[in-house]
Amino acid sequence: MNARDDAMAEAEAFATIIPPGFVIGAATAAFQVEGGVHDGGRELSVWDEFTHQSGRILGGANADVAADHFHRVGEDVALMADLGIDSYRFSFGWPRLQPGGSGSLNREGIAFYDRLLDELLAAGISPMATLFHWDTPVELRGSWLNRDTAGRFGDYAYQVGEVFGDRVDRWVTINEPATVMLNGYALGIHAPGTTLLFDAVPAGHHQLLGHGLAVQALRAASVRGEIGVTNVHSPVSAATSTDEDEAYAALFDIVHNRMFGDATLLGRYPTIPEEFAVALRPLVEVSPEDLAIIHQPLDFYGLNYYFPTRIAAGTGSSSSPDGEAPALSALPFHLEPWPEFARTGFGWPNAPEFLGVALAELASRYGEALPPVYITEGGVSLPDTVLLDADTGVARIADSARIDYLSAHLESALSATAPGGAASAVDLRGYYVWSLLDNFEWAAGYSQRFGLVHVNFTTLDRTPKQSFGWLRRVLEARS
Ligand code: FCB
Repeated sequence: MNARDDAMAEAEAFATIIPPGFVIGAATAAFQVEGGVHDGGRELSVWDEFTHQSGRILGGANADVAADHFHRVGEDVALMADLGIDSYRFSFGWPRLQPGGSGSLNREGIAFYDRLLDELLAAGISPMATLFHWDTPVELRGSWLNRDTAGRFGDYAYQVGEVFGDRVDRWVTINEPATVMLNGYALGIHAPGTTLLFDAVPAGHHQLLGHGLAVQALRAASVRGEIGVTNVHSPVSAATSTDEDEAYAALFDIVHNRMFGDATLLGRYPTIPEEFAVALRPLVEVSPEDLAIIHQPLDFYGLNYYFPTRIAAGTGSSSSPDGEAPALSALPFHLEPWPEFARTGFGWPNAPEFLGVALAELASRYGEALPPVYITEGGVSLPDTVLLDADTGVARIADSARIDYLSAHLESALSATAPGGAASAVDLRGYYVWSLLDNFEWAAGYSQRFGLVHVNFTTLDRTPKQSFGWLRRVLEARS
């Protein structure tokens, strides 16, 4: 057997661990792939503004063109059909569908997503749509620091639900409100770029409120699909067992994980230790009415997992997992490295066993309150390696490290949730690879490639990577 046959045999063996009915998909987000930022009546989001400010994005990049998905949607759906995924997770661009963030929806924006949905359904691919993946319209002044944005989001959700409710199988209200609060408002490395540290907490609360209002709005619009939310969870541990390290690890767990999971699933914020009650006052003083809005019955819970976090007391370096963040050095704690794990292109620890831990934490924290779970994102950035195929002489993108990453993470998730596993109480329904395409990776610009499909950002040509061939074989071979 040659190397290619070996790889295909491995894919077939891997396929046997995938349970029948388990959904395998790929994910993208509007701002990261669409481009066409001035086309079809679209107006600007905070991310358009942010990317055009100097010094914000690595290499001075912006997403004006990105992967040009807006103009290549037909080609991209054909790639998905060729790959054979069960489901595609994408996001509706808020400034494309509702330019300015208020008023009725934009016909040309509707036409774009009509086409996407119709082509997906014709190809037998189930649509999972996110209502908000970070592209807040600039006109919503104060953005998520302003409570009114939650109401605006509810209004947008209702209208989007009315138009597309007949074709979307699964709705995600908000993607990773923790990242928006922490990177966008607290540390300033994502849009809108403020460095409010703990004063950013209202931006988290208002997104949660927006989530609750959006669930109510989608139900009022009688959408036929299931409704959930996507939170990013990073299992947190203290670097040592000193009281200080433990206390800051608990604090980080609250602002990164628990405040979002507890509010949406349990209808309360976590108990705030006395010493952090002032910093986290909005969580301590939250009104029961707000919590009741946030706490909506959900059909599923979306988990994004990338890496675990280790916390120690004392200031440390200003580099965050998502970029340089000088504001970090003003905090009394820091993130410690994970020397025991290999690192991804981004420098993130490659720690598949912690996906099982994240699922086990969901089971133990939320018990009966946890609905079925989809892993709505998981994936790895790697530098390009272009190889000439020995058999065919054709250039191909060799990313066997992505195959290893995806298979190890899927295996970790499936074994943790199998009978006898640490997360056996979790009803795990699917896994979405981040990402279908190489795309605009926020503060890292085009420097981090997560795609199953390579995108040449000059010609915009698409080339399926080796991992694409592997996944296609897995999907064909499973029972
Ligand atoms: C997640 C985001 C997604 C992508 C991946 C790498 O936090 O939801 O848009 O940037 O990280």
